[in-house]
Amino acid sequence: MQVTIKSSQFFHGADYNPEQWLKSPAILDDDIQLMKQAKCNVMSVGIFSWAALEPEEGHFNFTWLRETLDKLYANGINVFLATPSGARPHWLAQKYPEVLRVDENRVKQLFGKRHNHCYSSPVYREKVSLINRKLAEEFKEHPALKLWHVSNEYGGECHCPLCQENFRLWLKKKYNNDMDALNGAYWTAFWSHTYSDWEQVESPSPIGDNKHGLVLDWKRFVTYITADFMDNECVPLRELTPNIPVSTNLMGARKKVVYPGIDYAVLSKHMDIISWDSYPDWKGTSEDIDTAINAAFSYDLMYGLKNQPFLLMESTPSLLNRWTCTLKRPGMHLLSSLQAVAHGSDSVQYFQWRKSRGGAEKFHGAVIGHDGRSDTRVFNDVTQAGEGLSQLSAIRGTASAAQTGLIFDWENLWAQDAARALQTEKKTYDDTCIAHYKALWNQNIPVHIFNEECDFSPYKVLIAPMLYLLKPGVAKHLTEYVKNGGILVTTFWSGLVDENDLCFYGKSPLSDVLGIRTEEIDTLDEKISVRIEVNNQNYPPLKSEYAASLFCELVHLEGARPLALYASEFYQGMPCLTVNEYGKGKAYTILCNLGQDFLNDFYRFIANEAGLEKPFSAPLPTGVYVRQRTSGETNFIFLMNFNSHEVGIKLPCFAYDLLKAETTPATFHLAGYGVKVLTNGIKE
Ligand code: GLA
Ligand code: ZN
Repeated sequence: MQVTIKSSQFFHGADYNPEQWLKSPAILDDDIQLMKQAKCNVMSVGIFSWAALEPEEGHFNFTWLRETLDKLYANGINVFLATPSGARPHWLAQKYPEVLRVDENRVKQLFGKRHNHCYSSPVYREKVSLINRKLAEEFKEHPALKLWHVSNEYGGECHCPLCQENFRLWLKKKYNNDMDALNGAYWTAFWSHTYSDWEQVESPSPIGDNKHGLVLDWKRFVTYITADFMDNECVPLRELTPNIPVSTNLMGARKKVVYPGIDYAVLSKHMDIISWDSYPDWKGTSEDIDTAINAAFSYDLMYGLKNQPFLLMESTPSLLNRWTCTLKRPGMHLLSSLQAVAHGSDSVQYFQWRKSRGGAEKFHGAVIGHDGRSDTRVFNDVTQAGEGLSQLSAIRGTASAAQTGLIFDWENLWAQDAARALQTEKKTYDDTCIAHYKALWNQNIPVHIFNEECDFSPYKVLIAPMLYLLKPGVAKHLTEYVKNGGILVTTFWSGLVDENDLCFYGKSPLSDVLGIRTEEIDTLDEKISVRIEVNNQNYPPLKSEYAASLFCELVHLEGARPLALYASEFYQGMPCLTVNEYGKGKAYTILCNLGQDFLNDFYRFIANEAGLEKPFSAPLPTGVYVRQRTSGETNFIFLMNFNSHEVGIKLPCFAYDLLKAETTPATFHLAGYGVKVLTNGIKE
């Protein structure tokens, strides 16, 4: 049974590393006073503390940690207690070198950095399990303990002999020991790669094999071994503290909407609560609007993993120490924090409470800087966020509702990344998903995001961009969804391969529901565009012409009607946007890559056709958007301005401003990077 977290408040706090300050004991007391001043009620403690908790093998020292928890609790501050497996101590790697990873080039790694350990290693598992048991025994009754923060941002992969052996065992189980089945799934007759002995199977490598079925299975295995490692970590926690929920913090990646190395839809099943580390690269320019859209997408993805509120486990209170280290502009801290809340977060937490004096993160944003002071801009911003959250406690635990769903699937992402097709050096699955999402964001229409295996039936509209890989049963579910009245929107490059990345032979399983048969796809040079003409009479607000770029799929109609035709290139006159009326529903297919302008118009048409509700009916200036959380009875509207300039707002109805605790005038100005939280219901 899933364990839940108990709190009537939003959590507000940070990663706290007292182990770095053990030689300056006064810091703990100072910190606690400052935490209270900043309206913090939670600290994530012990994340990288292994060397301080077990300085020598088998010699544990929990005194400092107990003192920390005692003092925090005595001052009203809860603890998310970490297991320390994110970074191991020197002695462990020195005595048991097997714990260190081997990389994909088969190079054994040295001690250093963090997240650099083998998830298969029995010694590592045993040592982690032991320290977790000791921690749980020590703190199981501690009233400050509210959540297990298991490890830290699991990631990466190991190609050592132990992992190779586990991979082969996993494959033997998956393929019932049937080598023919494995050879079939990987299409090994190609280039004479037929396996004749399980020992020949190795993980993919730049200096070895990269066949697509193998790559997919390896990534599935990496997800499996990571989740299995996590389960192993959790055994003593679940046994000794059955009522304390378990989470592990998930992460993003630059140029990808999420870290691609682990299928989070799978890993999420091993935790009770989703937590997410969010690091948008705010610049103080008009680019922030797109950054906000990307962040919104990630939050909706996190919400969708369990279809319930999550925790914003980390964010920066000021600047990042990667890329270009821009400070958050005034207003951005509260705005970006409440953006997470608007999408379903029940906390606002930071990396990090106090800046370290040394190490890679000494210049990363922190609530307390090297001056140790509270009369700083950042401290004031953080305090304001804490005060704001305490005004909003009625929102904690409430849902983020949506009538539109969007499929984002890790296996589909992996398969497209591996495919030598379209553009081999540039992959566009993430960007395409974001572009569709943006068209709804622009209309303030909320979207839930989930993978191919979810239940689509609650959604009026289902968007499945570039649904290249179809897992077993998915084509059937999509077909039933449309038959029962759903509106499906999909695109070019959909329904091509099965779960082994083997191309469907003959017809695509999506052909019937889409009413089309695909023949070819043309990838264009980036400078070239293809004109398309829309039969727009019955499809307002679609315009009569748009320009397609990059990808143009050539299809034959087999039941669908064309809404638009290519108007240039040798495929002039062929359909490029189709609709198939199927059962009680409709399936739209956008067969070429059309710009944001088209998608904005298209989804305005779809929103009208499906009668999608909007939480805020009045028009809003560009860069201002609305999200809603709801208790079922009371709606909470977050109005967010991602422009640096002030904008005028006209409210469609009476509203109460929860942050200011007053009724809002019907028209008002929202400052640059301003945010308001409105409700039509009870006051807090
Ligand atoms: C990650 C880690 C933290 C810290 C931050 C810095 O999210 O979990 O320990 O390194 O990045 O942004
Ligand atoms: Zn390994």
